[in-house]
Amino acid sequence: MNTQARFLTGLQPSGDIHIGNYLSALKPMVTQQSRGEAFLFIVNLHSLTTMRDPQALKKSTYDLIAGIIACGYDHQRNHLLLQSDLPQVTELAWYLSCVTGHGLIEKGHAFKDKVAHGIEASVGLFYYPLLMAADILLYDADIVPVGKDQQQHLEFARDIAGSFNAAFGEVLKLPTAQILEQVMVVPGTDGRKMSKSYGNVLPVFTDEVTLRKRIMGIKTDSTPLEAPKELDGSLVGQLFALFTTDEEYLSLKQRMLSGGLGWGHAKDELFQVIWREIGPVATRFWEIREDEALLRSVVTKSRDRVQPIADATMTRVRQAVGII
Ligand code: ADP
Ligand code: TRP
Repeated sequence: MNTQARFLTGLQPSGDIHIGNYLSALKPMVTQQSRGEAFLFIVNLHSLTTMRDPQALKKSTYDLIAGIIACGYDHQRNHLLLQSDLPQVTELAWYLSCVTGHGLIEKGHAFKDKVAHGIEASVGLFYYPLLMAADILLYDADIVPVGKDQQQHLEFARDIAGSFNAAFGEVLKLPTAQILEQVMVVPGTDGRKMSKSYGNVLPVFTDEVTLRKRIMGIKTDSTPLEAPKELDGSLVGQLFALFTTDEEYLSLKQRMLSGGLGWGHAKDELFQVIWREIGPVATRFWEIREDEALLRSVVTKSRDRVQPIADATMTRVRQAVGII
């Protein structure tokens, strides 16, 4: 019997992966993967709450599979899954919805935020937390690593499992949230939060020329070349700190303070340190990205491995509620 703790988390396939996503979502998942049995879901059904372009959804799904593998996720030891491959999740979400008060889901911040940002208030968007609870409860997950923005969804999942168990007996396992130390918000090339909706991203899966061009486009002031410059607090400095050792940071800081080094040089060093880390990841991504059959087979193999867990939960749930 497998006694390792089960870690489970989900990532939406909703656009090009940037270094904000990489540092706060992809890299931590890979770092954590040996702590137990990891279930990493690409939650394409959730993405349908905001996406209406089938080609874009397909592309983002393959990009994310390839991206996760390129970052070093061990999909042979752990599981890399496509949410839609195990449709039991939508069935479980229905059973859960029948024991969940409308008032609870109405408290959801994510729904209100998204509607405030112009996303259509569909029934699916409202129902999102039930599908997420089902993702977690279907696999008896122990620990769910998520960013702070997902904490409320985790509390919902625990409340919903509690209501189900109160009505039908101890059927579902209550998960524990592990709130990931929020990596500082990574700034984009214009100084605002890096986000695909602002068009200010540094993409991870790109080539050297494109990345260098984006970095050279970062806004800096026009202090003359010979004047001393302060790296601390500058946009270049904030990005540099994310990819360097303290010594490397101090070295650049001191050279800039003593004058004679322009922002162009600093951006060139920034490019070097970012590419040092993501270059190998990007190279690996392009080696595997074209082979969609291979990428498909990776998630299919994981699906086959976890299918018995999902089936066992559904048998328990159906019996508990009285489905014959
Ligand atoms: P975007 O804002 O580009 O649409 P998402 O909302 O799809 O990104 O975020 C996916 C994951 O990446 C989440 O875990 C989110 O917390 C993280 N993330 C997104 N942007 C940043 C950023 N600028 N800095 C740090 N983490 C980020
Ligand atoms: N809602 C999460 C997000 O937007 C993604 C997600 C879906 C998830 N199902 C999950 C995260 C299950 C953890 C566990 O980031």
